[in-house]
Amino acid sequence: MINLKKKIEEAAAYIVSKAGTDQINIAMVLGSGLGGLADKIEDPIFIPYSEIPSFPVSTVPGHMGRLVIGNLQGKRVLCMQGRFHWYEGYEMDTVVFPIQVMKTLKIDDLLLTNAAGCVNENWKPGDLMLITDHIKLMGENPLRGMNPDFLGPRFFDMTTAYNKDLSDLAREVAKKQNLDLKEGVYQLFAGPSFETPAEVRLARMLGADAVGMSTVPEAIAAAHMGMRTLGISCMTNMAAGILDQPLNHQEVLETGNMVKSKFETLVQEIVRRW
Ligand code: HPA
Repeated sequence: MINLKKKIEEAAAYIVSKAGTDQINIAMVLGSGLGGLADKIEDPIFIPYSEIPSFPVSTVPGHMGRLVIGNLQGKRVLCMQGRFHWYEGYEMDTVVFPIQVMKTLKIDDLLLTNAAGCVNENWKPGDLMLITDHIKLMGENPLRGMNPDFLGPRFFDMTTAYNKDLSDLAREVAKKQNLDLKEGVYQLFAGPSFETPAEVRLARMLGADAVGMSTVPEAIAAAHMGMRTLGISCMTNMAAGILDQPLNHQEVLETGNMVKSKFETLVQEIVRRW
């Protein structure tokens, strides 16, 4: 645990040394195909993950693998352009290491975004969904093991994991923009295989609206540390078995690209009013 604390502090100190400041308002994690938002950041400082002590390195196409720090809509933001997933072979605690570094940088607010398979049959690819809650049936948990007491308590609440005030702000901004922002439950699957049609039917029965391979570990780690999280999913494809066609990662990236401007307009205004 002393080791973890030291690693987090070293990574944080490195980021401060590169960014020249520790005054950052909001951290953002940009999911598959959504990394383009980082291009809107003004006076950006880029820090490749490979330079940061103890940081993992992301291996997925569509994930750039660097931090972008700068100004967005008058806020100082730290953006992960590319994230880490359990299916890449990282342990859950490694997946959430960057989130723990963010908190150590005194960042209390977090925007988590992802590409997801759409389980809700009334919606369509390209729809954006406010994450109101999640389901994690995988046994893994990023806080399994000795509790890092310096970050948060052993047992912690998840009823407010997705912050109500930030969700209200997202709803309000979407309404002003005439954007039909859906809302619902995101269910984590391990990946890297996409779900089977039977798994998608199960997810729907359980109350999930979207399925994906990320976000949940980060939301748990953020809740552990008392951070405020806003979650937004981009429905990049109908989940397996809904349409009579196979799934592929290309489609995920293409839909991400298609909704790019809608997504970026929404998030920028949320950040402005944050
Ligand atoms: N399943 C899981 N993860 C995903 C999907 C999906 O259908 N689409 C994008 N990420």
